[in-house]
Amino acid sequence: MLELTQWLFTYADPDLRRPGSDLSDPAEITRTWNIVFKGFADYYAPIIKDRRACPRDDIASLIANGQVNGCPMEERAMVSYFAIASSAGHDTTSATTAAAMWVLAEQPGLLARLQADPKLIPGFVEESIRWASPVQQFVRSATQDYELRGRHIRKGDLLYISYISGNRDEEVFDDPFTFRPDRAPNRHIGFGYGGHICLGQHLARLEMRLFWEALLPRLATVELAGPPRMAESEFVCGPKSVPIRFTVKA
Ligand code: HEM
Repeated sequence: MLELTQWLFTYADPDLRRPGSDLSDPAEITRTWNIVFKGFADYYAPIIKDRRACPRDDIASLIANGQVNGCPMEERAMVSYFAIASSAGHDTTSATTAAAMWVLAEQPGLLARLQADPKLIPGFVEESIRWASPVQQFVRSATQDYELRGRHIRKGDLLYISYISGNRDEEVFDDPFTFRPDRAPNRHIGFGYGGHICLGQHLARLEMRLFWEALLPRLATVELAGPPRMAESEFVCGPKSVPIRFTVKA
């Protein structure tokens, strides 16, 4: 799952891309997507069969028996749902956690502040999502004509939604290039917006809050032990390596 996810999300990164992929070929991303799609389709075929024959109370049963306008969902849409449900949750949360660790190692006094006031941890998590914006962009198509700040968008136009840019919007955030665990309100769009807002947002917040609540009280010091490296991608990504040196409390 992790490999398929990385091939898809970080298809251009020399360390994470599908081995043998040819980035000089503009068709490479389509080829990689087809290989990833087949990987998920093969993995989920027996699960779809099983959940159709014997539905139970889980997401796999919902998707396998899903209907669109009264007709069974097409296989391609179904596998795409399984692909997003399998890929969306781990790379995003680990990238956000790595970005937060990077800030923690660099911002003087932040560790002590969080330890002195653990109620700041949910805000620290929220700000790390804004900061990391691991889902950098999605492309959406307009369902109707629309006027946006003097720009005319026509029905069917493809729109590049830059979550990472929105999360640095000076009209929304004071001092957007500063990491503030007590930022309030924090109206980031890291989880998207509207009907397709991230299905796993509450799980993601919970996982990361529990992680930091368990780790922070034990840390005595943390600092960078080398330069962090970002994954090369304009899609879903974050730091692929954040070397740290740390000590734990006695
Ligand atoms: C920090 C962690 C995460 C971030 C930043 C994030 C971000 C996003 C974004 C930006 C979208 C698109 C929303 C839109 O179209 O408006 C999305 C969709 C989605 N996310 Fe997440 N996500 C995270 C964690 C998770 C987790 C843990 C899961 C599940 C285990 C998950 C499952 C999904 C699914 C299934 C969708 C598609 C929803 C739909 O199309 O209706 N995500 N996420």
